[in-house]
Amino acid sequence: MSDFELTRTLDEHASEVALRADVLHGLTRSPKVLPPKWFYDARGSELFEEITRLPEYYPTRAEREILLERAREIASESGARTLVELGSGSSEKTRHLIEALPALDTYVPVDVSESALAGAADTLLAEHPGLRVHALLADFTGPLQLPETPGPRLVVFLGGTIGNLRPPERAEFLHAVRAMLSPGDALLMGTDLVKEESVLVAAYDDAQGVTAEFNRNVLAVINRELDADFRPDDFEHVALWNREQEWIEMRLRARSELSVKIRALNLVVPFAAGEEILTEVSAKFRQDGLRSELAAAGLELVQWWTDAAGRFALSLSVADGPGLRPAEPAAG
Ligand code: AVJ
Repeated sequence: MSDFELTRTLDEHASEVALRADVLHGLTRSPKVLPPKWFYDARGSELFEEITRLPEYYPTRAEREILLERAREIASESGARTLVELGSGSSEKTRHLIEALPALDTYVPVDVSESALAGAADTLLAEHPGLRVHALLADFTGPLQLPETPGPRLVVFLGGTIGNLRPPERAEFLHAVRAMLSPGDALLMGTDLVKEESVLVAAYDDAQGVTAEFNRNVLAVINRELDADFRPDDFEHVALWNREQEWIEMRLRARSELSVKIRALNLVVPFAAGEEILTEVSAKFRQDGLRSELAAAGLELVQWWTDAAGRFALSLSVADGPGLRPAEPAAG
């Protein structure tokens, strides 16, 4: 019996069309901007894995600490028979949850990387005979059609990736997650927390320059996919803390006046010396702010756990209101 199924909602053509549109719009406006999802080709994913092992980049270790500490608690509160993971990547941290969920029937990893989905499924199926894996090749920021699987469902969104969305996109995303939840279902989300500026900036500007290389990798992706002639070393990596928005910004700053040809778009992009491309925002959260963003989307925060150092949080939320269950008859 085959316990692996893959549903594709993305193809290479759609992805190339989306990259063209993002590059055309992002590099012809001022200030210039590129969405962070284009970092993650094979090289970029490898660099991100390297980032998670850097001494300055605490979020991955802090989140793993909480998951290891709380897996049994999360599992008994959710009693999940289906685990849906948005942006599952290597599914490395999720393993702890899967091991703690005795009633788990189906794991639904959702990711834009088919190789990551297949690799994670292979490992998990070898470790958990009888587990069904129904992978979804999809972009979690778009509309998602989840497979019919037994409830209750636990939807997990780890890594602090929600911080890559701006507030309006976050609201839209949380509403979409709310729509996936029935009574008894829950959302488990990882969020990095506001803390001292020097700690935050160091996490995005490490001494070894791995994050700088990760940032410049988006230029290599555009060179390869859209036949452009960026020289990545012409751009300086910049990481700064935006204290009004409470997010980290990564930028690429032109070291001199220059211009770039993007042949697939028939476009020449001029840069003034010092001109920047905003390549990523990574928002940091406070409990109150997250609680109200969740509430605005019809989600109620019911549990909040941090690592011992209080750097990162995992939150558990449920759909608020009476849900779809018929109301209890009034007493008296
Ligand atoms: C995986 C999106 C959560 O924002 O911290 C790491 C990506 N960027 N270093 C983050 C990232 C620069 C990371 N997320």
